[in-house]
Amino acid sequence: DKVGVIGVPSCKGQSAGGVQHGPKALRQAGIIDKLTQLGVEVYDYGDLVFEQFDDDTPILGLKNPKNIGLAAKKISDQVSRVIKDDQIALTLGGDHSLSIGTIHGHAAAEKNMCLVWVDAHADINTPLTSPSGNVHGMALSFLVKELKEYIPQIPHFEWIKPCISAKDIAYIGLRDLDPGELWIVRNMGISCFTMHEVDRYGIDMVLRMSMQAINPHGDRPIHLSFDVDSLDPRISAATGTPVPGGLSVREGIYIAEELAATGKLTAVDLVEVNPLLGTKEERDLTVYAATEIARACFGKKREGNIPPGYVLP
Ligand code: ARG
Ligand code: MN
Ligand code: MN
Ligand code: MN
Repeated sequence: DKVGVIGVPSCKGQSAGGVQHGPKALRQAGIIDKLTQLGVEVYDYGDLVFEQFDDDTPILGLKNPKNIGLAAKKISDQVSRVIKDDQIALTLGGDHSLSIGTIHGHAAAEKNMCLVWVDAHADINTPLTSPSGNVHGMALSFLVKELKEYIPQIPHFEWIKPCISAKDIAYIGLRDLDPGELWIVRNMGISCFTMHEVDRYGIDMVLRMSMQAINPHGDRPIHLSFDVDSLDPRISAATGTPVPGGLSVREGIYIAEELAATGKLTAVDLVEVNPLLGTKEERDLTVYAATEIARACFGKKREGNIPPGYVLP
């Protein structure tokens, strides 16, 4: 397996300072070495650099349209290049607005991709339903074909073509939806496994039902967009919008292990690690959990792994 790592220090999709340091924190925790040790070929593209525009007035309440719209284009192009080069795109965030770019770029390279979105939030507010104007809570709305008529024209977003259908998306871990989001999830036919379903069925059944819904033949490229706030804040406190009652590390790792085992993961986003939030212990634990999720995505098993070329002495 080949992995292309792309750091995306985005922060304009939300309001807390610090999430732009997420890629740095994950690198300092040794994420590149940890993946290399698994025997995957790692190509590190470093961090994308975004031009900063200070004159960026909100449009219809949507904050930082120019910074985010232009950044998303850059992210999309990079992810699509990496995937066309036959590498799994691992994007280290950065706030979740970056997934506009990663999913758009993935769909450009792999038309038939499907999406597993693991998050406390649905991030599918339209600019008109968003209570905050923060684009990290709207990322999916620009990408879902069925929402086209509900999305107003936003300067610098014109190039974004909806590229995924509602039926190709599965949510896991949700527990904080805004009214417009719930309306969309119910009426557009997105598969949605909230923490209620995780409690009722267990994480294994939830994953099986997710795959049954979006990838029944197991033949589609899978995009995993993993927001660390899906995890319980007792583990993942260093994030901008924590919500109590989340996934355990074990459930997070189980999702990653099972998706890795499909052999069809083509893109992984690891987002919303904010190393400037919480205590040092909280930050270290959040980064550690994120790193373990990444390792599980690329083949690390809890039963252990026999290193490539190992000979029993
Ligand atoms: N639903 C809220 C909003 O739209 C919160 C979104 C949080 N999103 C995230 N990626 N952490 O503002
Ligand atoms: Mn979230
Ligand atoms: Mn909310
Ligand atoms: Mn999110």
